[in-house]
Amino acid sequence: MESPDLAHMRSEYARTGLDEAAAGDDPLALFGRWLDEAVASQLHEPNAMALATATPDGRPSVRIVLLKGFDAGGLRFFTNYDSRKGLELGANPRAAAVLLWHPLQRQVRVEGPVSVLDGADSDAYFASRPRGAQIGAVASPQSQPIEGREALEERVAEVERLFEGTGVERPPVWGGYRLGLESVEFWQGREDRLHDRLRFERRGDGWTRERLAP
Ligand SMILES: Cc1cc2nc3c(=O)[nH]c(=O)nc-3n(C[C@H](O)[C@H](O)[C@H](O)COP(=O)(O)O)c2cc1C
Repeated sequence: MESPDLAHMRSEYARTGLDEAAAGDDPLALFGRWLDEAVASQLHEPNAMALATATPDGRPSVRIVLLKGFDAGGLRFFTNYDSRKGLELGANPRAAAVLLWHPLQRQVRVEGPVSVLDGADSDAYFASRPRGAQIGAVASPQSQPIEGREALEERVAEVERLFEGTGVERPPVWGGYRLGLESVEFWQGREDRLHDRLRFERRGDGWTRERLAP
């Protein structure tokens, strides 16, 4: 089978740039605008982000999760606390995330400390999920080896029986995290690979902003 000619694949980036005036001083506001534009562009799952965690001795791992909310406290996402990412975050509570809005030629990179969301916040989000996803969250020992698809489906059937006729309770092992905003970089693709990169870093109550070479 012939592989695609990756070395010669390139597309031109020619969108309007990101200058300091347009970026402003508040990365949260800019993030909100870019997310709104990604949603308005009808991108598929504009809230998908790659989330990197690492073991305390520095072995990284990365996977996609969905961004479920954000504010000055950080980016919120939900998962299983005993998953690989959960265990890595338990031992080393720092992470990096990147959102890619490819058709807009934009990416946003976030780095910072990670904290566990309050139980009440996780309860509220869990309650808003469709029942099938709630059952799945209870039934799936995320990241653990399982015997086969059938074993998983049996666990789902068991959980369905357990909660028959009642609401599904959030299992303590499932809930949210908040990735604090310590560093937020906005990347806008430009012509000739001379992309715009503006990085904000937390300094006390405010932010510094600097331009990075592409
Ligand atoms: C588009 C997309 C969205 C996903 N959203 C989530 C999510 O919000 N939470 C989650 O735990 N896993 C999500 N996953 C699955 C994760 O990528 C991953 O398989 C799972 O969390 C286990 O990762 P871990 O073993 O590194 O902990 C998503 C996958 C894709 C492709």
